[in-house]
Amino acid sequence: MKITQAEFVISAAKRDQLPKDALPEIALAGRSNVGKSSLINRMINRRNLARTSSVPGKTQTLNYYRINEAFYFVDLPGYGYAKVSKAQRVQWGKLIEGYLLGREYLKLVLHVVDLRHPPTADDRMMADWLKHFDIPTAVVATKADKISKGRVPSHLKRIRQDLELASDTMLIPFSAETGQGREELWEYIQQSLMP
Ligand code: GTP
Ligand code: MG
Repeated sequence: MKITQAEFVISAAKRDQLPKDALPEIALAGRSNVGKSSLINRMINRRNLARTSSVPGKTQTLNYYRINEAFYFVDLPGYGYAKVSKAQRVQWGKLIEGYLLGREYLKLVLHVVDLRHPPTADDRMMADWLKHFDIPTAVVATKADKISKGRVPSHLKRIRQDLELASDTMLIPFSAETGQGREELWEYIQQSLMP
């Protein structure tokens, strides 16, 4: 995929702020600090279009990035961050659930997990939920640069088992640092965007 244009569009906190131009959307869901924003930046090869941070829980809105005037990456607020109040968690649930269940332009969810570690309870809950509502999902296991190559297959196997992924669910090892998995993920996204 040749990126000719990538721009930040809006940081939406409410449904009526979502774009109205009917472009298809690829949303990123995952634990806070797992590397969602970094993944977007690597996909479009821009260092800092999507705001990243070493402070977890930064993104609390739906952040829209328009790519090639053709589709949006939607950076969702991360889950599983301990230092978040109960009220914020409820707010998160409403926002995410409303979006994932109600957004007609949503084509694919990239469920981002950490390749280094077994999925957390929150990861498993997210995967169950996406499956339950039959939302098209690919799992991206990021930070692959942080483990040795030899350990990758066993970590992928563990993730597939723990998240109880169907055999035809795509699971892609990825690194925002090295660009590993980028081409494979673009292939999959392009297929998902085809009418
Ligand atoms: P929230 O917006 O808080 O939910 O976090 P996020 O999921 O968007 O994570 P973000 O992209 O901000 O990355 C969090 C930290 O992980 C940053 O310090 C990144 O530099 C680092 N990081 C992300 N992806 C990778 C990767 O593939 N490899 C390595 N080594 N570090 C990564
Ligand atoms: Mg982020």
